[in-house]
Amino acid sequence: MSTNSSDVQTLMHIGGFSSGYEEHLRHLGQYLVPRLPELTDRFYECLLANELTCPYVERRVEQLKKAHIAWLTELFSGDYGEDFMARQRRIGEIHVAVGIPPPFVASSMSFLRSAFPNEIEIIARSLGEPIGICTGMILRLLDLCQYLIDSAYEAERMRRLTAATGMSPALLENLIALRPVTKQKSIMG
Ligand code: HEM
Repeated sequence: MSTNSSDVQTLMHIGGFSSGYEEHLRHLGQYLVPRLPELTDRFYECLLANELTCPYVERRVEQLKKAHIAWLTELFSGDYGEDFMARQRRIGEIHVAVGIPPPFVASSMSFLRSAFPNEIEIIARSLGEPIGICTGMILRLLDLCQYLIDSAYEAERMRRLTAATGMSPALLENLIALRPVTKQKSIMG
């Protein structure tokens, strides 16, 4: 699976990225960013407490925490253009390169999806902002990041299949692609 801008646009459209979400997230960030180091500490406590994830992080926890806080901070930058998307794909490539299994990334996103509503509730309540709407915006953004990070894992699988079979990436893609049906040719036939 390779991501293209049309896939990302579909995700953002159906996911409900409404106009002005950038500004909302930037605004929330003013209050949430100071809470990110504590959130990151809790995240790394989980990674270190798990015997499968611990070996990947134990030797450079402080450095990784800094990278993680920087990534989380960017979620509230309000700028989600092509550079932001490219950085998510690059993070995926880095995790592929160091051999982090995909379920670990999925579990991390799950950790964040369960942690953020609580964080947002505290902030939104004091600001008088609608908790559900603020929570929805950050959850959608995490979904988008995961989609882009996952695309690097898919690209690596294709690369390995190409290496093993000698089939070109285009041919492999053609064999496995599930293409959206057009209006004229709907799934109902
Ligand atoms: C929500 C999921 C995750 C995100 C968003 C994330 C984010 C990041 C970021 C931003 C970096 C720095 C990349 C750079 O150098 O530019 C990084 C590096 C790294 N992450 Fe993660 N990470 C996630 C999950 C994990 C998990 C679950 C593990 C291990 C169990 C892990 C292990 C590492 C390691 C070892 C590096 C250093 C790679 C290297 O440069 O050698 N990450 N991560």
